[in-house]
Amino acid sequence: MVSTADPRTYDFVIAANRLPVDRHVSPDGTTTWKTSPGGLVTAMESVMHGREAAWVGWAGFPGEAPEPFDDDALRLHPVPLSAEELVDYYEGFSNDTLWPLYHDVIVPPTFHRSWWHTYQKVNDRFAAAIAEVAAEGATVWVHDYQLQLVPALLRDRRPDLRIGWFNHIPFPPVELFAQLPWRGLILRGLLGADFLGFQRPDDARNFMRSCRSVLGTTNRGDVVHWAGADDDRLGAAPRRARAAAVPISIDASGFEHLARSPEVRERAREIRESLGDPEVVLLGVDRLDYTKGIRHRLRAIGELFEDGEIAPPEVTFVQVATPSRERVEAYRTLREQIEGTVGRINGDFSHLGDTAIHYLHQSYGREEMAALFQVADVMLVTPLRDGMNLVAKEYVTARHDGGGALVLSEFTGAAEEMRSAYLCNPHDITGLKQTILRAIRDTPTAKKRRMSALRRRVRTHDVQRWADDFLRALAVAPGKPEKPTHTDGKDA
Ligand code: ADP
Ligand code: F6P
Repeated sequence: MVSTADPRTYDFVIAANRLPVDRHVSPDGTTTWKTSPGGLVTAMESVMHGREAAWVGWAGFPGEAPEPFDDDALRLHPVPLSAEELVDYYEGFSNDTLWPLYHDVIVPPTFHRSWWHTYQKVNDRFAAAIAEVAAEGATVWVHDYQLQLVPALLRDRRPDLRIGWFNHIPFPPVELFAQLPWRGLILRGLLGADFLGFQRPDDARNFMRSCRSVLGTTNRGDVVHWAGADDDRLGAAPRRARAAAVPISIDASGFEHLARSPEVRERAREIRESLGDPEVVLLGVDRLDYTKGIRHRLRAIGELFEDGEIAPPEVTFVQVATPSRERVEAYRTLREQIEGTVGRINGDFSHLGDTAIHYLHQSYGREEMAALFQVADVMLVTPLRDGMNLVAKEYVTARHDGGGALVLSEFTGAAEEMRSAYLCNPHDITGLKQTILRAIRDTPTAKKRRMSALRRRVRTHDVQRWADDFLRALAVAPGKPEKPTHTDGKDA
């Protein structure tokens, strides 16, 4: 269980499924810590930089958790997950039940009662770990769909805390959410928070409609009023919680600074040269996830090669597909499909020395990512559904020369803000092909105008603004913490 060895408590506590670093053990037994994958860590790492706080999360490997340790000013509190819990809580309930359900059921969600029981158990463990490290009256910021029961479980233990929760992924329409056998308990878990942040106004509305329809709450403006219930499982205490959109972003000035560095610019030149100095480099960068629309993108690219609209060596496509959730069946199937399709397209359209698609199933450092973005004449961000998509924001930030073009799916949270992108519906393959061609062939002036609007938007709405907006909303949220109970019998 969670170590009790750490006597320190903190006024600010972050809780997420993962710590910002994952432990890796190489075959010779050497242990290294690497930055954890995904947008949550990218965003929160820069927000937390230099801030004194505790971060509660899983250390990325099964079994006993390491003792708490420091990472600059951050105190990291590992929460243990056994191999079985990893299967049932993380791969199962989080990534095979909630993930597909919350992403428009692109693949069918799987419902298993045993997974749900483990999800409850692990959420309770996270709540216990947070309760241990949070100082009296502390602010606790809980993240994402893996920890939806934590707000209420934590409030039961520590009514003195101010609790916020942010969803990095979409919140589904009630028509889909209602499929979840444990829908009432999930909503009740979330209503333990004072403030609930979502990526888009539609996500906040979906949540509020689900509360009304499933729990019978009354909603006024953006505040949900829960009157309590007779059902013991849901808990009787009345609650008020506010729900609103606070779209996440990136550390724009930090990433631009990195992208402008001579090393990154030199690396970008090298990459372009190693690709054979093509006229047009198309780029996709995604976790290998069925929500990212990689198959649709490859279909469009394959047809463009077939139609003779594009051809190597003048045009080449680089697809970086970051390994992700590789033991979940739907992800294994997707990898086979994608690699089969890339192989077929390359077999048909590459020539010796001229590759149609460069496919990379690997993770890279931030410098390499920034260099890759600079090489991309057209960036293809075509998810079927995505909470935000930080890659889109990173791309425009890395293009400090004002060049490049962003093709962006309407079904990303980013599309709400980045209206000057070449917007597309990835389900419409003909439309997607036309949009890609337009992004390649538009005049430099038209492209620059779009890029400059996109860059301005990200610069003025960066990750620090997101964190400030969230924490300000949390500080004034209506669900006032109850007064702490003191053992000396006096009122606080
Ligand atoms: P998600 O959270 O679903 O993975 P986002 O686009 O919001 O999607 O965030 C992905 C983050 O991971 C970005 O910061 C991106 O630069 C980073 N990333 C994606 N692929 C790689 C990779 N192959 N190597 C290193 N970082 C990557
Ligand atoms: O943004 C959704 C999310 O699950 C985040 O929690 C994380 O940043 C990313 O996707 C990576 O997923 P995982 O932690 O399952 O590798």
